[in-house]
Amino acid sequence: MSMPTVRMPVVAGEAEHWYQDAVIYELHVRSFADSNDDGIGDFRGLTQRLDYLQDLGVTALWLLPFYPSPLRDDGYDIANYRAINPAYGTMRDFKRFLRAAHDRGLRVITELVLNHTSDEHAWFQRARRAPAGSPERDFYVWSDTPDLYPEARIIFQDFEASNWTWDPVAGAYFWHRFYSHQPDLNWENPEVEREMFDIVDYWLEMGVDGLRLDAVPYLFEREGTNCENLPETHQALKALRRHVDERFPGRMLLAEANQWPEDAVAYFGDGDECHMAFHFPLMPRMFMSVRMEDRYPLVDILAQTPPLPEGSQWAIFLRNHDELTLEMVTDEERDYMYRVYAEDPQARINLGIRRRLAPLLGNDRRVIELVNALLLTLPGTPVIYYGDEIGMGDNFYLGDRNAVRTPMQWSGDRNGGFSRANPQRLFLPVIADPEYGAVNVEAQQSNASSLLWWMKRMIGLRKRHTAFRGSIEFLLSENRHVLAFVREYEEERILVVANLSRRAQYVELDVRHLDGLVPEELIGHTEFPPLSAERPYVLTLGPHDFFLFALHVPEPRPGDAAAPPPAIRSSNGWAGVFERRGRTQLEEALAKHLPRQRWFAAKSRKIRRVSVGDAMRLGPVRGEPVGYLCLIDVELTDGEPETYVLPLAARRVDDAPHDDPIAVVRGGEGDVLLVDGADDPAVARALLELIRRRRRVAGRSGSLEGVPERSLRRLAAGHDLTPAPLGAEQSNSSIAFGQGLIMKLFRKAEAGTNPEAELGGLLSAKGFEHVPRTAGVLEYRRAKGAPSLRAQGPGLLMVNEPQVGG
Ligand code: GLC
Ligand code: CA
Repeated sequence: MSMPTVRMPVVAGEAEHWYQDAVIYELHVRSFADSNDDGIGDFRGLTQRLDYLQDLGVTALWLLPFYPSPLRDDGYDIANYRAINPAYGTMRDFKRFLRAAHDRGLRVITELVLNHTSDEHAWFQRARRAPAGSPERDFYVWSDTPDLYPEARIIFQDFEASNWTWDPVAGAYFWHRFYSHQPDLNWENPEVEREMFDIVDYWLEMGVDGLRLDAVPYLFEREGTNCENLPETHQALKALRRHVDERFPGRMLLAEANQWPEDAVAYFGDGDECHMAFHFPLMPRMFMSVRMEDRYPLVDILAQTPPLPEGSQWAIFLRNHDELTLEMVTDEERDYMYRVYAEDPQARINLGIRRRLAPLLGNDRRVIELVNALLLTLPGTPVIYYGDEIGMGDNFYLGDRNAVRTPMQWSGDRNGGFSRANPQRLFLPVIADPEYGAVNVEAQQSNASSLLWWMKRMIGLRKRHTAFRGSIEFLLSENRHVLAFVREYEEERILVVANLSRRAQYVELDVRHLDGLVPEELIGHTEFPPLSAERPYVLTLGPHDFFLFALHVPEPRPGDAAAPPPAIRSSNGWAGVFERRGRTQLEEALAKHLPRQRWFAAKSRKIRRVSVGDAMRLGPVRGEPVGYLCLIDVELTDGEPETYVLPLAARRVDDAPHDDPIAVVRGGEGDVLLVDGADDPAVARALLELIRRRRRVAGRSGSLEGVPERSLRRLAAGHDLTPAPLGAEQSNSSIAFGQGLIMKLFRKAEAGTNPEAELGGLLSAKGFEHVPRTAGVLEYRRAKGAPSLRAQGPGLLMVNEPQVGG
């Protein structure tokens, strides 16, 4: 029986800080998938591939610029901010894509280029013709001489000799921090700010969730400075944040500020500027650390990184659409990086290296996994560059940064499955290198040992643990080849230990402050010996190996005083236990609760993971629910996964003591106990009502449906239906309703016939007198595609007429 695990939705409340738990996937529409075979990727193609991205597990998509543009800087030279480049589709295609992404729970982040436009933008064409000093001319920065601001560095130093270019039409020089076809906007002109805020409104009104602020340190210029990170620039960003917060709470601004940590951190302001900013200096240091086999560069840069204001979050990455920038390293470090990662001068461009992740790392699977493990566990929201999840190659003969912008490789078909066009017509050739040409999604999907599957598992793991939102503490052992740190958030702690070297290592960790905690390795779920204050914790690691351990408070041993029920924090009542953090805590509590239950069939086997597959609200349509009927998916260390039916009910802590509570829910209006609701009269009544009234209750991935038989009306009408629990048997729990009805809750759900129920139904149809007759059932039907929990026979629960004489 295949029983896909479906996660509960993240509900409002936490939604505002979605970017803190996100896994971002960066892609270019042009490079992703071509739907109309013209050789250029488009929005329809991307929309068709959303299932792939959902399956990968990423939660947000960052799209490179898709606006009308002469494409001399791959779209960062925008000619019109309010339209879609016709090569990629229409505005309708974009809106369809946005809706389809949102339907799958994927957020969408687009580009906002505030600093400059294309010289083909109408504003520039107007400006160069307008009289000097007019508001139209003043949309850009002009000068009669190319000598102003000499301290500003040249960023595209392989292509430009000056930040000033002469415009013969205007008869003046214009200022540009990037290509000379990208004039910088003049932020001194309030009209520029007004226009830009209108553009922000335009996209956010459409539903875009976040904006990446391209090249944001350079908005203002001042003589005598390097024209980066000026106070005026920060003022402008604070105004933008206010503007967005007032109109679109919950949207996100992400700063691209390629700066040292103390300058980059300024882009968060006091929590009143950008929500996120890229951590540029961390990136080359991940590569340095693995190459030097020394944790120092990483630990050092994170030690130099100031703490962030509440609600702020770094974005971290290994590779992106640009060169691997070496601006934020020392000259010596840059020489080292060039020497070890870009021996071929062709691989170098500007101040960086134009290579993809896999070729940079010599296509060494162990090292690729190691750096991705760092990406997914170090502080910050990870950003994955399209194609790196399958280890795509690059082609540095293509000019500019096109080396890393080639078509996504989907299959072994023509053009890597990207397009059916004549290969000569593609916007860029597919990678044809003997080593990387065969890399594709289809091949890796069909091999569970592929890099793609590894990435899926690791992304899933990252999303299950909120510790990655929290603090980091390094455990500095004597062995500098080993990087060890603890991530902690609320009750969760995760210890990460990574061997940065290509040789096996052992490490002695000082774990005095973690005394007594029990490590559980998170990929194989093996329990390790407890940490102790008495002696260092010794671990051995193979080449480039790493461990992720959840650190648990030890389980009480038999004979110990009864352990208090685990706590779930929820300021949001019932809803909170199905939200992200609450849900993880609930699932952990269930993992402890299930093995104690008589009806739990897999007692002899070890639980690997418990997840709430679905939860259906019980009780009156309006007002407080009396409980939830949950389907609990249980993964075991060996054997097939199982699904159990569990009604959840809540009791006030001081009402009546309960002998086996699942958890205590803290917060909101006082503590309540979460209990198994199978013997709860209110829950039983609600379940019976569902059947009697033929009601449907929708869950996340299916729905519960009451199916009464004709006899039910007769058996129920005019009888006393006071519920009385009859207790739990091996596989089910029963409740009697007066004399006339017995309800049986089958604990283990199967996709197929329930033999007992089917037999009852069959016999009653044939008129047998002395067997219980089925008076109704409750079924769970999976949403389209997935197998239903009732294939032919009755499902989770049935009500019977009690057996005569028995
Ligand atoms: C950013 C982009 C880069 C672009 C530049 C100029 O750095 O990442 O691709 O060329 O801005 O817009
Ligand atoms: Ca196309």
